[in-house]
Amino acid sequence: MASKLAPWALRGSARALRSGVKEQRRTFQVSSASRSASLMVHRDTPENNPSIPFKFNAQNEELIKEVLSRYPSQYKKAAVMPLLDLGQRQHGFTSISVMNEVARLLEMPPMRVYEVATFYTMYNRNPVGRFHVQCCTTTPCQLRGSDGIMKAIEEELGIHHGETTKDNIFTFTEVECLGACANAPMVQINDDYYEDLTPEKTKDLLRALKEAAEKTGASGWAPGLVGDSGKDQVSGQSPGHQIKQGGEGYSAQGAKIPAPGPLSSRISCENSAGHTNLLELDKYPTPEQALRKDGAL
Ligand code: FES
Repeated sequence: MASKLAPWALRGSARALRSGVKEQRRTFQVSSASRSASLMVHRDTPENNPSIPFKFNAQNEELIKEVLSRYPSQYKKAAVMPLLDLGQRQHGFTSISVMNEVARLLEMPPMRVYEVATFYTMYNRNPVGRFHVQCCTTTPCQLRGSDGIMKAIEEELGIHHGETTKDNIFTFTEVECLGACANAPMVQINDDYYEDLTPEKTKDLLRALKEAAEKTGASGWAPGLVGDSGKDQVSGQSPGHQIKQGGEGYSAQGAKIPAPGPLSSRISCENSAGHTNLLELDKYPTPEQALRKDGAL
């Protein structure tokens, strides 16, 4: 009401008040914005341009037939993601030639394939090292020490995130949540998760990988760079030199790499403090009692 009767008076008094009070502003963000390191457009480079031929090998052609059989023939473009994944595994990264070949096979406009490959960060559109180390820094990992893990990786490899070591053995990437928050902090290395990390354990893991690469004579660049000849296109080594999974983890020419999963006393994501609830388990039906007699759930 007062503002309707004498709006000029109120405006004047507010101005007078403001002049005597230092303006205060609060921002939600106190650190500088971190921009994505990856360019979302394609630029031709010597190792990634459309004149480099790419064809799926015989083994992957069989897999592609299997994948395509899951979809009605008029919807075969639904197979774009698994085919891009196969292409990345064979070629080492999702190059423009891989994307064009997928577009040809699925009879899609290439642009539609580029849109998928540029949306999902799991498609590496540039070459990555033999070990692609992806460190999660989203909130649960950050609260449990991912800053220290990032620093440990930088110290051990001598590179920052977004970079590849000179010998092309390691590429280091900072990523968002990888869905293993209960075992934070964690990293993904190629297809494996290593969890419950400390800076020391992270360094030990990277040293073990480096030792394995040296002992096997593995070249840099991703293992996918093994061509139809069965020889590593970079080093000429046969795939037998690649690291194989053993019962306790991986071993390669005497070098031992820890089994993926929690690098702690945990087996999975169980409570590290032990049982704290459902202590009187005898009050609850056993799994056998809970199941119907015919075995259905
Ligand atoms: S926040 Fe790191 S795995 Fe979810």
